[in-house]
Amino acid sequence: MAATGGSGGSKARGTFGKMGFILAAAGSAVGLGNLWKFPYMAHRNGGGAFVLVYLVAVLLLGLPIMMAEITVGRSTASNPVRAFRRLGGKWWSLVGWLGIGTGFIILSYYSVVAGWTIEYVGKCLAWSAQGFTKADAAKVGSDFMAFLARGDKQVLYHGIFMALTAGVIIFGVKKGIEAVTKVLMPALFLILLLLVAVAATTSSFLPALERLFLPGKIGARGILEAVGQAFFSLSLGMGAMLTYGSYMSRKESVPRSAAMVCGLDTLVALMASVIMFTIIMGVPPDQRGKFGASSVILFTTLPEMLYNLPLGRILAPSFYLLVGFAALTSTISLLEVLVSWFIDDLGWKRSFATVTVGLATFAMGVPSALSFGSNEFLTSRFAPLAPKASGFFDTFDYLAANFLLPIGGLLTAIFVGWYLSSAFTKKEVEEGHGPFRLHLLWKTLLRFVCPGAIAWILYSVVFQGVKFN
Ligand code: PHE
Repeated sequence: MAATGGSGGSKARGTFGKMGFILAAAGSAVGLGNLWKFPYMAHRNGGGAFVLVYLVAVLLLGLPIMMAEITVGRSTASNPVRAFRRLGGKWWSLVGWLGIGTGFIILSYYSVVAGWTIEYVGKCLAWSAQGFTKADAAKVGSDFMAFLARGDKQVLYHGIFMALTAGVIIFGVKKGIEAVTKVLMPALFLILLLLVAVAATTSSFLPALERLFLPGKIGARGILEAVGQAFFSLSLGMGAMLTYGSYMSRKESVPRSAAMVCGLDTLVALMASVIMFTIIMGVPPDQRGKFGASSVILFTTLPEMLYNLPLGRILAPSFYLLVGFAALTSTISLLEVLVSWFIDDLGWKRSFATVTVGLATFAMGVPSALSFGSNEFLTSRFAPLAPKASGFFDTFDYLAANFLLPIGGLLTAIFVGWYLSSAFTKKEVEEGHGPFRLHLLWKTLLRFVCPGAIAWILYSVVFQGVKFN
């Protein structure tokens, strides 16, 4: 992938190779959102009902907005700020700014959770060497809680993860990430497939499928979370897809690429959920609540399942390594948006921009890292901002996923739906695709359905007091 910056639109900026866009965009989309967030959100919001709303949100909001972002990016070959300025003037460039701010916030806290995978790769290597005993299994949960409360480790791993991200961005996203993604994404997919197959041999598999796919009860909060999660998981609403679109070749099809990325991302989220739900349904009903809570399963119950497998000693560390890489391809896309702006618009050198932005994001993430128990104030005093999500980390996540990304998506939909002429969008979307018969449908979704649905959601949260968490 060529992300060499330079002036927007010039040859020096480069383009992705064949499949490069899909790989990079799927790398951005597939991450902790799929493996860590989606399963627990689905679990606490009635399973099948949540999944159904989520699928509808991906089809009616996610796919059209992803196409809109890619189209804006590809037609201007620019970073989000410049892209909106070029096509829409000074005021619209604020949408690009909003994206950059949102990216900064998400990257700061996302890197903290991503850092946990480093600890777990280490832990698994030790377990693989010494054997994973019943005693280990019994205290894996309390160990995880103790780990969360270790401020020093949280900050250290967050720092290491930011350094890894910055390292890739500095030393040529070009060869590095494309090569890495090509191997690791399929590997992650295979391990997930294997785990699904193992899950299928247990007696809790059918109950898990029922819970996951038969609609249960969902409340307003669940609907809102499903929509927020769709934006988060598809990397929409903050310019990541726009930026990757700016490196996309004009010979490639926007609708087909977007559909592929949406499909892959959803598939991975569903596979992760099948695995986690099978584990949850395997424990007695009165203990399930505990397992459905936030981050717990991925880091506490999964190790046991992995070590029960024939090749568990190899699979367990590999699994966490791949989760870490999935997170890395997401943090790379977040940092790339920020860095590309400093390079394109301020004329900074790539290395200087990467180090500066990397350090700033690291600093911004420290309060999140300390909000899992190590600092009382950061852990429990933010309730007024995000009802019941009382920690600094939860508050950032809540604001980003449920407000900033949807607002970014809303404005992008209005921009491409209303502001850009149909003649222009049709010509752009047909470039590399051929006649696009669904253009009118796409426009209609962007004009009415996306803004309507998102505005309704924001209204419900702000004025009707629908609460999260
Ligand atoms: N989509 C990523 C995930 O699911 C997170 C992300 C959000 C990445 C926004 C880039 C931009 O983990």
